[in-house]
Formats: sequence, structure tokens, C-alpha cells
Amino acid sequence: MSTPEFPTVGLVGTGAMGRGIAQIAAQAGAVVRLFDTQPEAIAKAQAALGAQWDKLAEKGKLTAEAVTACRARLKPAAQLADLADCDLVVEAIVERLDVKKSLFAELEGIVQPTAVLATNTSSLSVTAIAAGLKRPQQFAGYHFFNPVPLMKVVECIAGLKTDPTVCRRLAAFARQMGHTPVQAGDTPGFIVNHAGRGYGTEALRIVGEGVADFATIDRILKDQVGFRLGPFELFDLTALDVSHPVMESIYHQYYEEPRYRPSVITAQRLAGGVVGKKNGDGFYAYVDGKAQMAP
Ligand code: NAI
Repeated sequence: MSTPEFPTVGLVGTGAMGRGIAQIAAQAGAVVRLFDTQPEAIAKAQAALGAQWDKLAEKGKLTAEAVTACRARLKPAAQLADLADCDLVVEAIVERLDVKKSLFAELEGIVQPTAVLATNTSSLSVTAIAAGLKRPQQFAGYHFFNPVPLMKVVECIAGLKTDPTVCRRLAAFARQMGHTPVQAGDTPGFIVNHAGRGYGTEALRIVGEGVADFATIDRILKDQVGFRLGPFELFDLTALDVSHPVMESIYHQYYEEPRYRPSVITAQRLAGGVVGKKNGDGFYAYVDGKAQMAP
């Protein structure tokens, strides 16, 4: 195994995405420090990663020694200041510009000046998050997809002031983690969440207009068009507390362009706490992570 481009990596936010990035970074040989404002989220991530590595060992995809090494590289951080020695910190917290900006302002005062800071934002402007930082040249977008270990593409996004070396290093690290880096411009939704707008918003319009129900749309798009997940399965996987703000953010950043208009259907479901697979209650109901109704 080659020396990781970033030997010590911090993950802030250890939900679905932070946990996935932590997994592949540890597998690539990096020491991974996990921080979350909810300490139970860190414990949950550690337990889930341990179980994940055991499963990979059972399938013969990791040796028992590799599992032990990965577990040893995972270090819970009690406070943000514990990320001081990180060469790279990746943020995967709530999709809100103000919260992300204040996190990076704090992190900049903690890490070494040479450290790279990166956001896993799905839709916010990398340039806007970096605005106000003392070292915007050390900051970039690093956008992974869910579930991270299986979705092999990562968008590397340079903001207006990002040093091109930073993106090159992030791309090199992505390759070490077994992923395929793609350079994307700093535009709302980058490549995937821009191109993917039509998939979700049009499907919601079809439901809103009473043309078909959500399960029929999922089934047809999978069986007849060949998508691996239907739009409503994808909403459930991403979770509406992530995907609805992403829809709003892209719509507003494109000056309220009608084709990006979010749906009242997802707004209402989010308000009602019907979020998705992670709380067992989405377009589909889930028990132990399994949908109770086939699309
Ligand atoms: P999640 O809800 O599963 O996890 C977020 C975690 O961040 C939670 O554990 C929460 O306690 C923690 N957190 C919130 N505010 C914090 C703060 N200020 N400091 C430290 N920890 C904090 O969310 P998920 O799905 O992992 O998404 C996180 C980010 O990744 C969002 O920006 C989202 O847009 C992006 N993303 C999500 C994808 C998805 O499919 N869910 C795909 C690609 C990107």
C-alpha cells in the first residue's frame, strides 16, 4: 500500500457520508479522526464501520490483518481541536451555508496552514463557503456519492481561489481510495446533482399531476429505462433532510429558474418527519433497512 497523499484525515459529521468517506480513507491507510457534534453519531459510525469491515473479511475482500489495521486507524475525536494534526479535513455536516462557513472558520484556526480543508456539499457554492477564510487557496469541494464505498466517482471542485495543486492532491487521494476523481466547475449542483435535477423533480411532478403513483414510476424507470434506483428510492436513500435543501439551494442559485422548482410534496413530507430510509419512514417504509413494499 502506498503512503496516503493525506496520512491523517479528519471527518466532521459522521452520518451516512462521513462514515463512508472514513471507511475508504482508512482502507487506503490513512489515520482517520472522527468528529460529530452528536457523540453518539461517532460511536454509531465506529460500530457500523467495524461491522462493515467484518463483512468484507467474511466475503474474502479484506484480510483479518487489514480489518485490525483499519479499526486501529479509526480515532474518535472528542472535540474539533483534536483534528489539529490532520493533513486533510473533510466536512459532511448539514447542508447549510452559514453552518459550513462557521465550521471552516473554526477549523482554519485549528489545523496547520498546510492542511487542506474540503466540503462534501451536494449543492452549495465552494467559492461561497470559502469566502471569508484566511486560506481559501487551501479549500476545495470533494463531493462523494451515497453509499461511498460503492459509488466510485468523486467530484473535485475548485473554488475561485483554490490552488490547483489542492485539487490534484485530492484527485490523487481519491485514486488511492479506489475512486475515480472528476473535475467539476463550481456551479450549483456541480455535474451529478445538476444533471440529476430532472430525475427527481419531474418524477415529483408526475405524482403531483396524478399521472402515476411513486412506486409505478420507480418500477418503470428501473425496468424500462434501466436506472438502478427509481427516483423515489433515491430520495429515500439520500433522505429528504438532505435532498430537499439541495433542491432549494440549486433553485435559488439559478435565480428561481422554474425547471428547478422544488416540490411541495417533499417540503411537506420533510416537515412531517417522513425523511427516508435512515429513519425507516420515507416514500417506502423500512424495517431493518429493508423496504416493506417492492417498487
Ligand atoms: P447525515 O444527516 O447522515 O449526517 C450528518 C451528520 O453531521 C450528523 O451525524 C450530525 O450530527 C452531524 N453534524 C451536523 N452539524 C454538525 C456540525 N456543525 N459539526 C459537526 N457535526 C455536525 O447527513 P449525510 O447524508 O451524511 O450528508 C452530509 C453532507 O453530505 C450534506 O452536506 C449533504 O448534502 C452531503 N451529501 C449527502 C449525500 C447523501 O446521499 N446523503 C450525497 C452526497 C453529499
